[in-house]
Amino acid sequence: MRAQELREIYLKFFKERGHSVIASASLFPEDDPTVLFTSAGMHPLVPYLLGQPHPEGKRVTNVQKCLRTTDIDEVGDTVHLTFFEMLGNWSFGDYWKKEAITWSYEFLTSKNWLGFDPDKLSVTVFAGDKDSPRDDEAADSWRSVGIPDERIYFLSKEDNWWIAGNAGPCGPCTEMFIEVDEIPKCGPDCRPGCNCGHFVEVWNDVFMSYRKLEDGSYEPLKMNSIDTGMGVERTLAMVQGVPTVFDTEFFIPLIEHVKELSGKEEFTGEDNRLIRIIVDHVRSAVMIMADDRKIGPSNVEQGYIVRRLLRKAIHDADLLGIGQGFMNSLADIVIDMFKDLYSEVKRNRDFIMKCLTAEEAKFRKTLSKALRKFDKIYQDTGTITGGDAFLLFTSFGLPLEMTRDLAKEKGIKIDMDEFTKQFEEHREISRTATQGRFKGGLAEHSEQIVKLHTATHLLQAALRKVLGNEVTQNGSNITEERLRFDFTFSRKLTPEEIEKVEKLVNDVIKQDIKVNRQFLPYDEAIKKGALAFFKENYGETVSVYSVGDFSMELCGGPHVERTGLLGKFKIRKQKKIGAGIVRIKATLE
Ligand code: ALA
Repeated sequence: MRAQELREIYLKFFKERGHSVIASASLFPEDDPTVLFTSAGMHPLVPYLLGQPHPEGKRVTNVQKCLRTTDIDEVGDTVHLTFFEMLGNWSFGDYWKKEAITWSYEFLTSKNWLGFDPDKLSVTVFAGDKDSPRDDEAADSWRSVGIPDERIYFLSKEDNWWIAGNAGPCGPCTEMFIEVDEIPKCGPDCRPGCNCGHFVEVWNDVFMSYRKLEDGSYEPLKMNSIDTGMGVERTLAMVQGVPTVFDTEFFIPLIEHVKELSGKEEFTGEDNRLIRIIVDHVRSAVMIMADDRKIGPSNVEQGYIVRRLLRKAIHDADLLGIGQGFMNSLADIVIDMFKDLYSEVKRNRDFIMKCLTAEEAKFRKTLSKALRKFDKIYQDTGTITGGDAFLLFTSFGLPLEMTRDLAKEKGIKIDMDEFTKQFEEHREISRTATQGRFKGGLAEHSEQIVKLHTATHLLQAALRKVLGNEVTQNGSNITEERLRFDFTFSRKLTPEEIEKVEKLVNDVIKQDIKVNRQFLPYDEAIKKGALAFFKENYGETVSVYSVGDFSMELCGGPHVERTGLLGKFKIRKQKKIGAGIVRIKATLE
């Protein structure tokens, strides 16, 4: 059986049982800012699980594109993937446990459908706790279709309770596992839920009967609903009788291609792990970038996940001796595989290819520098601190997770709290010193520092006028003597460009323009064209400083009252400090 047939017969089975087939929603959740990606079929259906009538009725089914970043570090074993497709069927206050379980059993074991050997099927059900009783109803339903007691496992909330995130519709669930003969049990305690690969979970039926509130308590839902999820890749592997998802048609062509590019003849277990990571990560990044929102690699939100996936793939490909440009040919295979199923994949092919080429070039430029820096820090200090990881992240573009992996190879555990603290501080600074906490001494508000701060705004505006709007602030630091400004730009400035920038700033200084402060709602400030260092995490009302129509930035200040107070502006030094980041040091005389 091929993947497409699996998708089709699943939908047919549930259509015959009164379900409407609905389309896959986007990988980007529409109404839920708390998560980056759609991680399960139920995700876009939460309002209907909570009682809102679904336009297609009380029974729906679909194939949903999903992405789970929580599994990212697991990838490389036999079952974990970041992007995957999930088959699902839902009852919104309609059928309940007995029907859901009977249909699951029929679809899995009937020769008309998947035809698994019933003796290879084990199930888990909820053992019960203070919030909800032991699920004997589910266990009885399994017994009634013929599953013997020894293959019904009662497990705790950790295994047998489903909720997406921290709050929302939830309930006990029952999971179905197929045993893989090629992978023996890892020991006498091996059971469904064990990660050794012997028991592969293919399907989960959730009995949505509670709503978890933000305070951690549970209240019963007005109606009981069913939410099920069956992983296409895993189920296909089991149907095809192959031991892992990487032995299915989804991955064989990708893996063969990577092997060919490596030029190797023999592959160790570690090589195979790296290959799995490469193909999973490129596939997932392609599927994210395929969305019509056109999110490419960046340092924020979903874009950061794309960057992290691609950079890890490039790094692992390097370890296998694979040269530049491999991602595009892998992406071609992925696009071919999905283009007829998801039209956006075809539509956004060019965007995907451009992003891959640019990201690889960008990362390769910086990677060797980053690795050298990493080695130097390690040699000098014998360790890698959270602060070092932060420096490698901000100044050298090395994703935190890669630093963490490299450190792990040396037996070092990075202090994540320290990294997070610095990251938060960085954001705080980025929020342009709202409480006067500008790194480099703005807190002291010395006259010279305030002047240099205003000059930093003028410099950014001038750089954008001369070099274009791709210039955005990457960092800033002010001392009594000079300002330092880091910004995104692909190369150093020519002497003519430097002269032009200086002239623009000095002209504004000469015109003695009033520096104006306003408080505006964030959206309005952005609409007016105010520059914001970080997109997120500003309060509702923001402080905006503007200098005529020359410069406008979200900033907490302080600034001088008039530009005429600044003196003569001069760029003293410029330097490339990372992939696409230039640093300028300038003074006022
Ligand atoms: N929402 C359930 C899951 O993803 C079905 O496992």
